[in-house]
Amino acid sequence: MFKKLQRIIERPEPFSVDTVERLWNDPHISKQMLAYHLNPDSEPASRNHAFVARSIEWIAERFSLGPAKAVADFGCGPGLYTLPLAEKGARVTGIDFSERSIAYAQEQALQKGLSIEYRCQNYLEFASKKYFDLITLIYCDFCPLSPDKRQRLLEIFAEHLKPEGHLLLDVCSESAFRQRQEGVHFGHRFMDGFWSEADYFGFQNTLIYPEEKIVLDKYTVVESWDIREIYNWLQFFSLESLKAELEAGGFKVVDAYADVAGAPYRPEAPEISVVAKKVP
Ligand SMILES: C[S@@+](CC[C@H](N)C(=O)[O-])C[C@H]1O[C@@H](n2cnc3c(N)ncnc32)[C@H](O)[C@@H]1O
Repeated sequence: MFKKLQRIIERPEPFSVDTVERLWNDPHISKQMLAYHLNPDSEPASRNHAFVARSIEWIAERFSLGPAKAVADFGCGPGLYTLPLAEKGARVTGIDFSERSIAYAQEQALQKGLSIEYRCQNYLEFASKKYFDLITLIYCDFCPLSPDKRQRLLEIFAEHLKPEGHLLLDVCSESAFRQRQEGVHFGHRFMDGFWSEADYFGFQNTLIYPEEKIVLDKYTVVESWDIREIYNWLQFFSLESLKAELEAGGFKVVDAYADVAGAPYRPEAPEISVVAKKVP
């Protein structure tokens, strides 16, 4: 018992454990995640729908999206961006490994008579003969990835962007990092049954890595027959560190914003969004 409790507060090496697929594909958790995506006001999985609507208008204008444009949305979830962008005439591809979200997105496209290519797969293994005018990675999905995986993803983006194409992504800022604190929270059916349909005790251990600007929210779910762990790593960036990382991946940042709806960049904003192009 003591050893099991000790494990809860252990401080692993940054990104040494990867449980991200568990978070999005566990049958019970993915059901909660889809409900969060589709709730217009809740923000754990997608931003609130009023923001998403503004973001789509800004993206369509900023990248002159229309029938001639090919867009790939990495981590598209249930299609909050892919559907409206396809309605604007763009030729859209959505990639996500959540089977539940992709099934929902496909159903919505069918109902609306929209032709969207959905790929249910790990985007770190994405390969296609298509080249895109715009690649998006929205809602700070770059941040849970290890440095190696972030570089791999940038390679995939570079391989699939047209020479004049754009990459749009957002990340958590160092200003948001400064607001985070270490701590342990726990409870019976912690987070209102989010982690399991069965009876359980849940722990959330938040660990800060000040040098690396990383936060780990480690969740431990204790059921009568099992103990499961979910590691939610988040890398926080300054505009400079993000630019340097994109440069190492063959990209140049051409514009910076405070969000993916075009708000002007502010260092104190919780997020940074950038538009980047491939370096020829
Ligand atoms: C925070 S949600 C954002 C969804 C969407 N971009 C939005 O803003 O509504 C992250 C999404 O990325 C997907 N995802 C995370 N890592 C992935 C990976 N390695 N390959 C494919 N999809 C991934 C998850 O399944 C989830 O749908």
